[in-house]
Parts: sequence; structure tokens; C-alpha cells
Amino acid sequence: MARVFAFMANLDQITKAASDFVAALKSANDARSLDELRVHYFGRKGGLIPALFSQLKDVAKGQKKEFGDALNKLRDRIEAELKEKTERVSAEEASRKEASQIIDVTLPARMPRLGHLHPITLVRQEMERIFREMGYSVDPGPEVETDWYNFEALNFTPDHPARDTQDTFFVDVDKLLLRTHTSNVQIRTMEKHKPPVKVISCGRVYRRDEITMRRSPMFHQAEGLLVDKGIHVGHLRATIEHFVRELFGKDAKIRMRPSFFPFTEPSAEVDMSCIFCKGAGCGTCSQTGWMEILGCGMVHPQVLRNVGIDPDEFSGFAFGLGIDRVAMLKYDIPNIRTLFENDLRVLQQF
Ligand code: PHE
Repeated sequence: MARVFAFMANLDQITKAASDFVAALKSANDARSLDELRVHYFGRKGGLIPALFSQLKDVAKGQKKEFGDALNKLRDRIEAELKEKTERVSAEEASRKEASQIIDVTLPARMPRLGHLHPITLVRQEMERIFREMGYSVDPGPEVETDWYNFEALNFTPDHPARDTQDTFFVDVDKLLLRTHTSNVQIRTMEKHKPPVKVISCGRVYRRDEITMRRSPMFHQAEGLLVDKGIHVGHLRATIEHFVRELFGKDAKIRMRPSFFPFTEPSAEVDMSCIFCKGAGCGTCSQTGWMEILGCGMVHPQVLRNVGIDPDEFSGFAFGLGIDRVAMLKYDIPNIRTLFENDLRVLQQF
């Protein structure tokens, strides 16, 4: 009884092995999985076919022939079909490899992966464009500067309290420092060129500032300077108004508030109508409807004298603004450091 039962089970196993093989062969479509299949059926250790053959001895005498025939047929069939498919697949792989080596010169070229400009560069170039159109030349000036160009010539005497607002990084050599503003370019330009002078300077500046959402020890400024005969505050205001409208749109309004800089007299702080609430008052502008964007003023007569220009003959205006602040406003970026972290997930949005 036990023998008969075992025989039944074995015949079933052969039928099952046959149908399993059909499915397995169908899903084996490369040389590697076909080889795995071969090992599964014919492997010397644990291969299914040898295992079934080893059961032959347990089959009842009268049924040995039927079982053996079925097993031989299964073995031959699996062997043949595996061989056929293995040959077919390897031929296909070979011809695919050959085809991939053919260069089709008529295919359209692949687009190269282009990078793009950083938001600060985009804003800087836009500013430079606006001022170039008004006839300004562009000069970034040096970032490592002497005390003279960064402070003294701009009327910051050695003990002037205004120096406290622009603490910087000093280098131990020749009184060198990292410039605190782009105003050094005012002096360098006026030393080199006699009026009329029209220059815009954009670049990095450094301050020992506390780090906040809107402050960083390194940031970017844009500086403008115009010196000629008969220049007055009206020219300054019109220039800034034009600039702000080009950058933020025709509806942008500005206002000037009195302020102080050692190198301009009179000096002013310029506010722009908030671009988010259009002046109604919101969180970004602290409910005032205005946002401070730049400092400016008429070039101080002493500064003109420092570079050998006669203040009775010439006058001029200067202004300076933070490029990062403008980029933050234009692209709605709340934290200045976002601009310097070079996180591709941010940068790829521009
Ligand atoms: N240099 C000044 C600052 O960094 C800005 C400024 C530039 C003010 C030109 C007046 C004229 O704060």
C-alpha cells in the first residue's frame, strides 16, 4: 500500500515538474537565468531530475517501467527545450550587441546636460544690464582691500564710530582687510578716471555680522557712482526709481528716509513698496507696506577732495544695495543661507 502511494506521488511529481518547467522556461529570458534553470533541474547536488531518478528504487516493481518512461521523457524534454532556448537567447544577445555597435549618424543629437546660472548671478547680471543701458561701466573691484580704500578715503577716520557697524576680517599683512562694502570701488574709480564718472560695481563683501535669516558674514552688494557737473538729488532719485521699476515692475514705488553714511551728505535709506502686499502691510514687511532696499546719498565733498576732485566743480551721487536681499525678494527665499548652501534641490528651480 505504502509502495503504491509513493508511486502515485512520484507520477504526480513528474506531471507537476513538467508544468513547473513550462512556466520557469517562459520567464527565463537571459543566459544567466537559463543557466540557473539548468542547475535547478540537472545539478549534481540537489538537481530535481537526479532526485527523481533516485526515487525509482522505491517504486513497486510492476510500475517501475511506467514511472521510468515518464521520467526519461521528462528529462529528454527539459534537456532539449533548455538547449534550444539557450541557443536562441545567446544568438539574440549576440545580434543585439552587434546592432548596438552600429552608429546611426542620422539620429538627432542628444541634448547635453546644461547647468544654469545661480540666482545671485541672475540678479547681478540683470542689475548690470539695467545700468549698462544707462551708460554705466562695470567694475567689480578687489575683495581684499586696504584700510584706505575701504574706510579712510570714504571719510571713516580711524576712530569713527561708523566703523563699529562694519566690523570685518583683518589680515595681518600690510593692514589688509576683507572689504565691508563695494564702496571701495568709488575711490578706486575716481582715482583712475576724472569726471564724468559712471560706474556700477557688484561683488562679495564681508562683515563680522551675527548670522540670522537675513544676515551672513559674506554677502553681495551692488554699488553705483555717478560724478559730473551739476549732479543733484533729483538725478539720484530718478536713477533709483528707474532701476527699481526695471527690476521689480512698473508699479514699484520708492521712498527716501534721511540716514547717515560718512561718505555721503545728505544720506538716505531707500524703501520700496512691499512686492508681496503691494503696500497694504503683511508679515514680510512687518505690516509697514515698505521694505528697505538700499543706502545712498550725494558724494561727500571730503571724499571728492580725497581723490583730487574739486567739489566746487563736480558733484555726484552713490548708492549701495544687497544683491542677496533682492534675490530673496524676487524669488521669495526666506533664509539668506539658502543661497550659499548649493543644495541642488533648490538651485535646480531657477
Ligand atoms: N556702503 C554702504 C553700506 O554698505 C551703502 C552705501 C553705498 C551708502 C553708497 C551710500 C552710498 O551700508
